[in-house]
Amino acid sequence: MFEAKGIRSGYSGVTVIRDVDLSVEREVFAVLGANGAGKTTLLATLARLIPLMGGEIWFNGRDVTKLRPWETAALGLAYVPQEKGIFADLTVLENLQVGAMIGTRSREERVDEIIELFPDLGELRTQMAGTLSGGESRMLACGRALMQDPKILLLDEPTAGLSPIYVDVFFEKIREIHKTRDVTIVLAEQNAAKALEIADRVMVLNLGEASEVLDAAELTTEKLKEGYRI
Ligand SMILES: Nc1ncnc2c1ncn2[C@@H]1O[C@H](COP(=O)(O)OP(=O)(O)OP(=O)(O)O)[C@@H](O)[C@H]1O
Ligand SMILES: [Mg+2]
Repeated sequence: MFEAKGIRSGYSGVTVIRDVDLSVEREVFAVLGANGAGKTTLLATLARLIPLMGGEIWFNGRDVTKLRPWETAALGLAYVPQEKGIFADLTVLENLQVGAMIGTRSREERVDEIIELFPDLGELRTQMAGTLSGGESRMLACGRALMQDPKILLLDEPTAGLSPIYVDVFFEKIREIHKTRDVTIVLAEQNAAKALEIADRVMVLNLGEASEVLDAAELTTEKLKEGYRI
């Protein structure tokens, strides 16, 4: 469904992602790794926000290597960055409505669905997004991305900095989004234990290099350590 072949990327000549291969089906696919491993760089590259230094990216049988971010978004790829991802000076409802610029289904119908998924957003619909708490902003960023009716959703550490109760709720929501909306999820995560609760397969990034892709159900601590190279 979504495939990256030998991709390389980084910042002004510094290579961060080194020849990473990735093939994601209809599943929850977790990208694990420590601080600075390259998770954010990889997801931003897949969303076509960072130029490729090498390799190819394919989405539903189509070569999207040279497409611009808004073109991959129109094809069904939504991206929720690690920070921000919302418009601070728009209300919660307006933020959701921005997401509906992509897709053809009625905007109201989609807003209702997102509020059903994240009821807190309904209560907050008239509040300015810049005044939301950390957890509420993460929900809004995710809701805005889902307004695009994506086929694939790239989530970059959606629960970083959230209290444990929010973390649990959020991980359940991610699984629910995958199951009920048939959205493929690529989840960058430091919290390996939580990611393994909901992921079908995992890959560990280490200094921009990828481990073999492992089945979450068959993953042993030894294999995980091998991936992290500890
Ligand atoms: N804008 C940038 N310019 C230059 N180097 C960068 C930039 N962003 C990230 N890097 C470097 O790229 C490497 C990978 O960073 P990245 O943010 O992708 O890691 P990460 O796995 O997402 O880490 P974290 O878990 O802390 O979010 C790091 O060495 C970082 O210093
Ligand atoms: Mg990151």
